[in-house]
Amino acid sequence: MDISGVLSLKDFIAELAITISTGGNLVMNFPPDKNGRVLPIFEERLRDIGKFIGAHEEAIYTTKPWIFQNDTDSTIWYTSRLRNASGFDPYRYYNPQQENNTIIYAFVLEWPIDNIVSMPLIIPTRKTTITLLGTNISLPVVLDFDGGMETSIAGISAPLFPSLDVFVLKIEYAADQNVNPLED
Ligand SMILES: *[C@@H]1O[C@H](CO)[C@@H](O)[C@H](O)[C@H]1NC(C)=O
Ligand SMILES: *[C@@H]1O[C@H](CO)[C@@H](O)[C@H](O)[C@H]1NC(C)=O
Ligand SMILES: *[C@@H]1O[C@H](CO)[C@@H](O)[C@H](O)[C@H]1NC(C)=O
Ligand SMILES: *[C@@H]1O[C@H](CO)[C@@H](O)[C@H](O)[C@H]1NC(C)=O
Repeated sequence: MDISGVLSLKDFIAELAITISTGGNLVMNFPPDKNGRVLPIFEERLRDIGKFIGAHEEAIYTTKPWIFQNDTDSTIWYTSRLRNASGFDPYRYYNPQQENNTIIYAFVLEWPIDNIVSMPLIIPTRKTTITLLGTNISLPVVLDFDGGMETSIAGISAPLFPSLDVFVLKIEYAADQNVNPLED
């Protein structure tokens, strides 16, 4: 086996975020050695993946794709959940955007150079809140020129995985948007 054939943790997280944002299934292959043992490189990867997923399970388990899958040149990928999903098809492909019902999770896969995270596809309201997932840190909600949303992460280092510069934002009470991602 060639080490270059093993995804880095950061690349794996990107793969995971892209896959769940688009409603896909992720198949991981960790072949054992000829004695049936897990190789140390795979053990390390599995433990780190477990740590990342454990710290961000709210944005992963039982979430669904959102009305938009990615933002800002595919550096941000969205998942979502409904506070109250009663009356919705449990097998729906995506969650609609309803101000009082939808929680959006933004996987930010690249640390923005200027510390400004741009999410032009999210429309904020006066009630909108942004939290750094896994912490109680609230981030500012800034209305963008073109009606989208920005926030600043200046002064905050990726608290859970500082070496990766990857983080997840939890966004609540963004404006209603009537978009069907399955059209066209
Ligand atoms: C990323 O978002 C753009 C714009 O919404 C969309 O056209 C594209 O299909 C998305 N890519 C994926 C893989 O979902
Ligand atoms: C959830 O939504 C259903 C259907 O719209 C509604 O009847 C019910 O009262 C809601 N439950 C809560 C806790 O808001
Ligand atoms: C969300 O709830 C608030 C408070 O109950 C209400 O004023 C507002 O109109 C609701 N927004 C939408 C889009 O239904
Ligand atoms: C966030 O705040 C709640 C309530 O104050 C607390 O129970 C929880 O432990 C805090 N979480 C973190 C990650 O600090």
